[in-house]
Amino acid sequence: MAESRPRVWVSQPLFDDLVGRLAVHFDVHATDVVTEHSPAAITEALRDSAGALVTLNEKIGAPQIAGAPGLRAIANVGVGYNNLDVPALTAAGIVATNTPDVLTETTADFGFALLMATARRITEAERWLREGQWQQWSFSTLLGADLHGSTLGIVGMGRIGQGIARRARGFGMRVLYHNRSRLPDTVEHECGASYAGFDDLLAQADHVVLVLPYSPQVHHLVDASALAKMKSTATLVNIARGGIVDEVALADALANGRLAAAGLDVYEGEPAVRPELLALRNVVLTPHIASASLATRRAMVSLAVDNLIAALGEGPDAGRPPTPVNPDALAATAGITIAKRQGA
Ligand code: DGY
Repeated sequence: MAESRPRVWVSQPLFDDLVGRLAVHFDVHATDVVTEHSPAAITEALRDSAGALVTLNEKIGAPQIAGAPGLRAIANVGVGYNNLDVPALTAAGIVATNTPDVLTETTADFGFALLMATARRITEAERWLREGQWQQWSFSTLLGADLHGSTLGIVGMGRIGQGIARRARGFGMRVLYHNRSRLPDTVEHECGASYAGFDDLLAQADHVVLVLPYSPQVHHLVDASALAKMKSTATLVNIARGGIVDEVALADALANGRLAAAGLDVYEGEPAVRPELLALRNVVLTPHIASASLATRRAMVSLAVDNLIAALGEGPDAGRPPTPVNPDALAATAGITIAKRQGA
C-alpha cells in the first residue's frame, strides 16, 4: 500500500508556481480564494497537518495546535510573526519560520515613500485636485515639511530601520535611532545614525518612523504621552504593527494640531480602519503594503516554501530551515529527520 504523504495547509492564495514546489513532497491543501479563517477553521485545517504556510491573517496559538499532534512546522510568509504564539509552538516542538532579509530594501523604500507622501501632503493634494478645488495657483497651497535638512527619528533599528537610515542619509537628513540595544559603532557609522533615548528622539525629531517588531511590551508605545513629547510640526509614520500606536490618541493629536501629519500602513484592527482616522485630511493611509512589490512578495513566498520543506525534513536543507524563529524547536524536528534518513 502506498505510504500517505504528510499533509500541508496553505492558508491563502499565494503564487501557484512557488507553492507548487511543496507538492513534490507533500499532500498540499491550498486555499483558492482570500479567506478570513475563523480560529475554529484554523484549528480544523491544522488538525491533520504536518505543516502550514500562513500569513499574518492567521493567528495561531495553543488552542489551534492543541488538536494537531502531527504538526511540526509553521512557515510564516512575513518578517513579523506576532500572529504566532511562538512560546506555545516551541513548547509543542513545532518549528516556526519567518521571511527576513528578502523584504528589507522594498520595505525601506516604502517607509521612505510614505514619509515623503506624508510630509509633502501628496495624497491630500491629489484628493484636493481631483475634487476640483484647484481654481487658482497660490503660493501658500498645501505647504508641507521638508525632509532635507530635517531630523529623522527611527524607532526600531533592525535591518529595515537601517535601510531607511541609509536612504535618509542620501536626503541630507540627520538621523537619530532608538533600539532595544545600541548598534555597533561601525553600523552606526555606515547608517549615519546616532543613538538616542526614546523621549529624546521624540523631542528632537521632525519625522518619526516606527519599524520595531510588535510585542506586548510595546503595545501603545506611542500613546498620548509620547505624542505630547513630539513637535507639533512633526510627522509620524508607522510601517511596523498597528498595536504599537494608540490610534485614538493619534487621531486626537492630528485633529487638534498637536501633530502635523501621520502616514500609516498598519492598523490595530486591520483591515478595519478607525473612522476617526478616515475622517482626517492629514493622514496618509495605505493597506499594509510595505513589502508589496511583485519581486519581493515572490521572494517571501519562495523563502517560506524553502523553510517549510526543510523544517519538515525534506529537500537539500532537510532539518535546517533557512530562517527559523525558534531554533530550540528544531531539535525535535532534527530527531524526526534523522529517523527518516535511517529509514525508521
Ligand atoms: C511583514 O513581513 O511582517 C509584513 O508586515 C507583511 O506580512
